[in-house]
Amino acid sequence: MSADQQKQAAGEAAAALVEAGMVVGLGTGSTAAWFVKALAARNPGVTCVATSAATAALAQGLGLKIAELGETREIDLTVDGADEIGPGLSLIKGGGAALLREKLVWEASKRCVVIADAAKRVAVLGAFPLPIEVVPFGHKTTALRICDALVENDIGVAPRLRMRAGAPVLTDNGNYIYDAACGAIAEPAAVAFALKSVTGVVDHGLFLDLADLALIGGPDGVSRLEP
Ligand code: A5P
Repeated sequence: MSADQQKQAAGEAAAALVEAGMVVGLGTGSTAAWFVKALAARNPGVTCVATSAATAALAQGLGLKIAELGETREIDLTVDGADEIGPGLSLIKGGGAALLREKLVWEASKRCVVIADAAKRVAVLGAFPLPIEVVPFGHKTTALRICDALVENDIGVAPRLRMRAGAPVLTDNGNYIYDAACGAIAEPAAVAFALKSVTGVVDHGLFLDLADLALIGGPDGVSRLEP
């Protein structure tokens, strides 16, 4: 089973969790896209809140109704991918630069389900570079302060500005992304707190104590993991 087939199986399993009348949060990325497609096929009448412009466009193209965050009643269920899934369903997200809207939607949801292929599971978070969303004004100064915050947590790495075609990648919110190749994040909660304390950091890709369930595609089907 290829990684993409595993993502598809996880996305389809998650779509089976959606009931008529629910408000559903839609994640961003290749795995979340499988969920959106399966949802549109199974349950096209639900109202959805998207975590990115790309996902909103995909969902609307498939006939799903998109509402802004805060314009519906509480979100019943959000389904989204991840870059790494660590112990206790701690996550790194933001490889697709959508981490801020993702976290806003996740935090506004009654239940959050992460879907992924088996390769996303790790014993320790941090091999995937941690995305950090930063306001453009003074971003080089902010990057130095991020570096200090990481060093205080025994992570000696300089975050790198994410570039594409010679220009900084812009998020849907008009911000920049710095990626910190931490290697291993021994204390994710301490790192999360330290990063949020840096003025100029809007948010980071550590999603801690947010996922209620993981559906992981693998060679033997989809397995369920709880925190
Ligand atoms: C988007 O910003 C990310 O958080 C994605 O959810 C994450 O990168 C997983 O993407 P894939 O499903 O494409 O691996």
